[in-house]
Amino acid sequence: MLGAGIAVGGALTGIPLGGAAAPTEQQIVAAPRSFALTGNVSAVTAGWGYGDAFPPPTLRVKVGDTLRARLINRLPEHTSIHWHGIRLPNAMDGVPYLTQPPVEPGAEFVYEFRPPDAGTFWYHPHCNSIEQIGRGLMGVLVVENPDDPPFDADIVCLYRDWRFDDAGQFTAITTDEGAGRAGTMGSFHTVNGASAPVIDVPTGGLVRLRILNLDSARVITAALPEQPAWIITIDGNPIAPVAFDQWQMGPAMRLDLALRAPDREGATFTLTNSFAAEPWTLATFRAAGPARSHPQGEPPALLASPIPRPDIDNAETLHFTFSASSATALDPQDQLPDLSALQAALGTNEPAADLLCRPQRIFWAINQRPWPGQAGGQLPPPLATLTRGRSYVFELINVTPHTHPIHLHGHTFLVIESNKRTITPYHTDTVLIHTKERVKIAFVADNPGDWMLHCHIIEHQDTGMMGYVRVA
Ligand code: C2O
Ligand code: CU
Repeated sequence: MLGAGIAVGGALTGIPLGGAAAPTEQQIVAAPRSFALTGNVSAVTAGWGYGDAFPPPTLRVKVGDTLRARLINRLPEHTSIHWHGIRLPNAMDGVPYLTQPPVEPGAEFVYEFRPPDAGTFWYHPHCNSIEQIGRGLMGVLVVENPDDPPFDADIVCLYRDWRFDDAGQFTAITTDEGAGRAGTMGSFHTVNGASAPVIDVPTGGLVRLRILNLDSARVITAALPEQPAWIITIDGNPIAPVAFDQWQMGPAMRLDLALRAPDREGATFTLTNSFAAEPWTLATFRAAGPARSHPQGEPPALLASPIPRPDIDNAETLHFTFSASSATALDPQDQLPDLSALQAALGTNEPAADLLCRPQRIFWAINQRPWPGQAGGQLPPPLATLTRGRSYVFELINVTPHTHPIHLHGHTFLVIESNKRTITPYHTDTVLIHTKERVKIAFVADNPGDWMLHCHIIEHQDTGMMGYVRVA
């Protein structure tokens, strides 16, 4: 039932994982790789990746089964894997120094957890992320619910841009102008590693389209101008199907659509980014193969995820203000521990700044505190300490002229209110906060540990707009 062809980027159907028996171990080798990204730039690019091609094969696991993944680090610097959107134990969350020691070059780390919720997720490093994610370290994780209604095809569309010159070589991945504003945009747009690919869908078939915006900076508005579809999950979380018009997606956000492919073989429809004044095509879908028939109209609903319901009436409200840093807020040098002692303790010659996951530049802050970096005993205090099991409302306040996709680790929250738009409450792990907007989210702090709260425009994250909350 799964796995209609993806035209590009290698096989995207993952190796099925074991059932009740011991889980099959997945090996994820982070290494420098040469990617052949196709399109008007068709050069081979010296990237960093988790697989020989970009994107790596989608990892697929059944909800409640154990995912066991061995990260093998063949990069010249330390790394880790964060499993974006998964409610997992803190020790598996992949934030260097905060939840685990960084995985040094040549070292390995085994991640093992049971995803409690089905949906579309992804994974990526969590230190020096501008460089590591920018060069290609990312992959898609699909958690399947075997009790969900079947589809004829299940198609992953991983959107991201790349910062290339005409020869396909990386240009500056970050700039001060970008990092201090809306982010440094890439010019080469890809879906599954190809520029505007053509992807086959089964003629007349019921299709599940998993769209991921995994760009580091760009907010897109996904649309299917020629094709009726329904939203069936938002950021991995099933909802009762609603007719799809268009959907704004910041970096790290996902959207699953259900649609019935055209009945005529060869017919096409496009996925566009309609955010820009001139919408552009992200991918084209083409009906292929023998026709199947399905009832018209709304697709069957997916099963809801078991996310605890916050008690909003009795919740404590905390405020988080996302702002520019005042220029003098932090002299990064003040935050440095004794570097040679640190290098000796960790037994490495890595450059000190990398060791610390310390921002090179500071432009942003949360509650006036820019993230100073992280190392052994040098973590800043949490932005807030939450009582385990209690309900909280976070008011997320954007006082900057830019849009920020704000992400909380370890919890799936309900978006309940905005001062600027009408919100139909929905679950997510990443919410876009527009200029001058105040958005309220609510959740039960049921997962103990230290959990990152940050902007997912990677240059904002890496230049100060990051902190963490402690659930104790
Ligand atoms: Cu997608 Cu803190 O991460
Ligand atoms: Cu931001």
